[in-house]
Amino acid sequence: MSHTKVPLINEPEKEPEKASAPANGSKTLRFSVPARSSKAAQHERLFPAPNSPQVIQPLSATPAASRREKVRLAPHHSALDWERHKHEKDVKHIDPSCFPVRITKEELSKHTSPHDCWVALGGKIYNISSYLDYHPGGVGILVKNAGKDCTALFMKYHRWVNFERILDECFIGFMVR
Ligand code: HEM
Repeated sequence: MSHTKVPLINEPEKEPEKASAPANGSKTLRFSVPARSSKAAQHERLFPAPNSPQVIQPLSATPAASRREKVRLAPHHSALDWERHKHEKDVKHIDPSCFPVRITKEELSKHTSPHDCWVALGGKIYNISSYLDYHPGGVGILVKNAGKDCTALFMKYHRWVNFERILDECFIGFMVR
């Protein structure tokens, strides 16, 4: 009986082994575990990859035009901390009897301070005052756009971010004409 051995990723190439039939004639499945290979092959297995955008590259490797200051979030302001915080505290900051509010563009434009910071995203209104300090892109950029429809900017910076999930507790109502 012959066995076909499928090489695993990064496995160093070896001479094909000679097939050996088991004495009792039963089928035998054979697996191979990648051996500890050369330094280069181990390097390839690193996650994230050394040239990934998740890795901060040396300044010399980034074109000046695309450099952006990374925001340092305060301790206990990670995404996980936000998940806990938003369920423990009232982050809507509105009278519950008014929920869901129906907001015009004019009304939205009145909520522009860090303590009263509303934005429209995808036709929905969110009070993001409590979220500001947890935003990985920083407080400033959000406050600058407070009281506005941020959908286009949001999509420009991070269309992969699920705002409906992150801001579910901050949802206060809908945009109306
Ligand atoms: C209000 C809803 C928003 C939420 C929930 C949100 C959420 C996030 C999240 C989760 C990240 C990290 C993305 C990642 O690492 O892949 C991020 C980064 C960022 N956000 Fe937002 N964001 C919002 C609005 C905005 C707006 C309106 C702007 C721009 C006007 C903006 C600008 C940025 C920037 C520049 C970064 C990049 C930070 C970096 O590269 O270190 N965000 N945001």
